[in-house]
Amino acid sequence: MSVVRIVNELPQAAPQSPWLDTILKGDCVAALERLPDHSVDVIFADPPYNLQLDGDLHRPDQSKVDAVDDHWDQFDSFQTYDAFTRAWLLACRRVLKPNGTIWVIGSYHNIFRVGTSLQDLGFWVLNDVIWRKTNPMPNFRGRRFQNAHETMIWASRDQKGKGYTFNYEAMKAANDDIQMRSDWLFPICTGGERLKDENGDKVHPTQKPEALLARVLMASTKPGDVVLDPFFGSGTTGAVAKRLGRHFVGIEREQAYIDAATARIAAVEPLGKAELTVMTGKRAEPRVAFVSVVESGLLRPGTVLSDARRRHAAIVRADGTLAANGDAGSIHRMGAKVQGLDACNGWTFWHYEEEGGLKPIDDLRSKIRLQMLPVGA
Ligand SMILES: C[S@@+](CC[C@H](N)C(=O)[O-])C[C@H]1O[C@@H](n2cnc3c(N)ncnc32)[C@H](O)[C@@H]1O
Repeated sequence: MSVVRIVNELPQAAPQSPWLDTILKGDCVAALERLPDHSVDVIFADPPYNLQLDGDLHRPDQSKVDAVDDHWDQFDSFQTYDAFTRAWLLACRRVLKPNGTIWVIGSYHNIFRVGTSLQDLGFWVLNDVIWRKTNPMPNFRGRRFQNAHETMIWASRDQKGKGYTFNYEAMKAANDDIQMRSDWLFPICTGGERLKDENGDKVHPTQKPEALLARVLMASTKPGDVVLDPFFGSGTTGAVAKRLGRHFVGIEREQAYIDAATARIAAVEPLGKAELTVMTGKRAEPRVAFVSVVESGLLRPGTVLSDARRRHAAIVRADGTLAANGDAGSIHRMGAKVQGLDACNGWTFWHYEEEGGLKPIDDLRSKIRLQMLPVGA
């Protein structure tokens, strides 16, 4: 088994990992043994679909359809395919971090079998995402519906897999402030993106569109994460990972595909740090207790806070509580108490005086959060 190293300008997440940003040549189950336990954040797998094609497929004008009839897509039975699926999924599960997730793409030929294996092996399905093709191939025989989509199963490593990355806020903002749905519309890979050889033939029969991989990685990874693709093919995952500032490791058996992927990835320019910053929501921001605002000197004990219309007042105490009307408690409890309500967000209710005006104490929390950012961020 050999290793093809691709120079990637990214800071090395784990410099001692010789497999980082490389393509490992060989069978993926064997090659995965070279990766340590819990070493990758996300896996994108586009395995053989086991299309079970029965002879050549022709268009109505008798021209032959360029179907996927490659030897790597052929299995002699469903049992053989299932054994293969379980073997590579198990190997992938070992190298996945406990909070990692896996994406597997497939069609009706294989995705249900893959789904069963995923669940049997302990993965926990988070979504099945439909990739609806804007330009699918027609059904030439007219005996079935046009097959216009593929399915991606997104699963966490374990049922209790907590803390996996899902950039919910960024996805929603990118979707005009509407929650991103599980049906995605993309064209199949054509035009300039499609790798062609010197004869103008496709380099790889199942090259996936970069836009699809970009959505997957933007949704489920952070810059600097390590993305594994055990069926690397033409290297779509590696090209997109490098562009988006993620590390990759690819595994592929065929040298011709490795050569094409190597050249492709070498030509990719990574985006800059500013363009790659992932938008996060309040839930992802570090927790700041009100006492930190007092301890940091942004509010002195004894300061009088009021609501925006100056109807209620409370005094800041050194222990981070507020006192009002003979009672004391948290900013939230006292905000609710003075209004006669059950609950209140004290951060937005209570205000302090600055330059002759009132400002919410939430502004002070933001200042503390800024101080918490890593140096250079
Ligand atoms: C469906 S294609 C992946 C295409 C890829 N996503 C792309 O965009 O180019 C599956 C790839 O897996 C490779 N492959 C099949 N069986 C393999 C195995 N056991 N180990 C490693 N690679 C394998 C094939 O050579 C093929 O390139």
